[in-house]
Amino acid sequence: MTSAATSSVISSVLPTYNRAPLSFVKGEGSWLIEADGRRFLDLGAGIAVNTLGHAAPELAAVLKSQADTLWHVSNLYKIPAQQDLADLLVETTFADTCFFTNSGTEAAELAIKMARKFHHDAGHPERVEIITFSGSFHGRSTGAIAASGAEKMVKGFGPLMPGFIHLDLGDMDALKAAITDKTAAIMIEPIQGEGGIRVVPDEDLKAMREICANTGALLIFDEVQCGVARTGRLFAHEYAGVTPDIMMVAKGIGGGFPLGAVLATATAASGMTAGTHGSTYGGNPLGCAVGLKVMQIVSDPAFLAEVNRKAGLFRQGLEGLVASHPNVFESVRGQGLMLGLKLKVAPADLVAKAYAQELLTVPAADNVVRLLPALNIPDEDIGEAIKRLDAAATAMDTASDTASNNG
Ligand SMILES: Cc1ncc(COP(=O)(O)O)c(C=O)c1O
Repeated sequence: MTSAATSSVISSVLPTYNRAPLSFVKGEGSWLIEADGRRFLDLGAGIAVNTLGHAAPELAAVLKSQADTLWHVSNLYKIPAQQDLADLLVETTFADTCFFTNSGTEAAELAIKMARKFHHDAGHPERVEIITFSGSFHGRSTGAIAASGAEKMVKGFGPLMPGFIHLDLGDMDALKAAITDKTAAIMIEPIQGEGGIRVVPDEDLKAMREICANTGALLIFDEVQCGVARTGRLFAHEYAGVTPDIMMVAKGIGGGFPLGAVLATATAASGMTAGTHGSTYGGNPLGCAVGLKVMQIVSDPAFLAEVNRKAGLFRQGLEGLVASHPNVFESVRGQGLMLGLKLKVAPADLVAKAYAQELLTVPAADNVVRLLPALNIPDEDIGEAIKRLDAAATAMDTASDTASNNG
């Protein structure tokens, strides 16, 4: 046996992230500011989190007021802001009930538990299998990495939670063949985020709804990244005209405050009785006060119309970039302000060239760079983003010209 006490140097923050050499001390709307005053235009929004931009005054006011009143009481007691947020989510979605978490991963854990418990209590304890798809991302807990199944996430962390079937995204024949009397649920992101802004066609979501209706399997949508108005609808699945039995939400619902939720129909949630699940912080007064304000703002049809108008403007600019830099960009994809640029170069290279233009973008799988700005990004900042992306792409073009001239 070797000793664990031999290792020497490690940073005081566990080095699990590949961080850029940037450090921000202040945020204002769509801008992040370094200590030396350098201002970066933020097309990442904390990876689809800062729905209304950085330090949004409406949210800061609610947070300050709640902080002066009551921070935490635990779920031993009723929490008025939690009740109000649940009521609004039930009013504006397919759901009959909500459970609040602090993150998307915790929402994934509950979605899995809820689906299995439903079948258990319905007299089918053998229905435990959950079907998921290539390129999916549901979080980093042991359950969520087992759900995704991606080699880079699971390697070294076994034994994994059993009961997940992994299929290729888009292979509907494989999906039909994979449904058995052990299937508990199908779990899918209507638009994959980490997987590279891969939009699941409406007809596939409809077919999944039908398969679930015919077999009794539950349909779980992971809208952690694509939900909360990001796509120009309150939730992305609305485009397909179908509803899930269970939905995971996080990121944008807190506008920057850690908050997540699982929304479900009364039937799907029927197994989750008192004592079957819980969280110390989930649904705390601070998070729910902010989440309520976010949801009140983004569920307004006028707000959603603006997201769509801005998305049209942004997309038009991006299409222009694809046309003028055919060696860098392949295409634009996505829905609303959940946009992806499919590249012909390595995403990390473009992200680095964008940093040099003081522009923040987010790499994803499938050779894509994500653009996930604040949903209220001003039109002039969209114009500025296109200008800076153009400059970054020009720098890529120049770099590859130089490389080919040299060799
Ligand atoms: C679709 C999806 N599901 C789940 C998660 C996990 O959320 P969190 O990082 O809040 O735990 C993410 C995070 O990127 C996500 O994009």
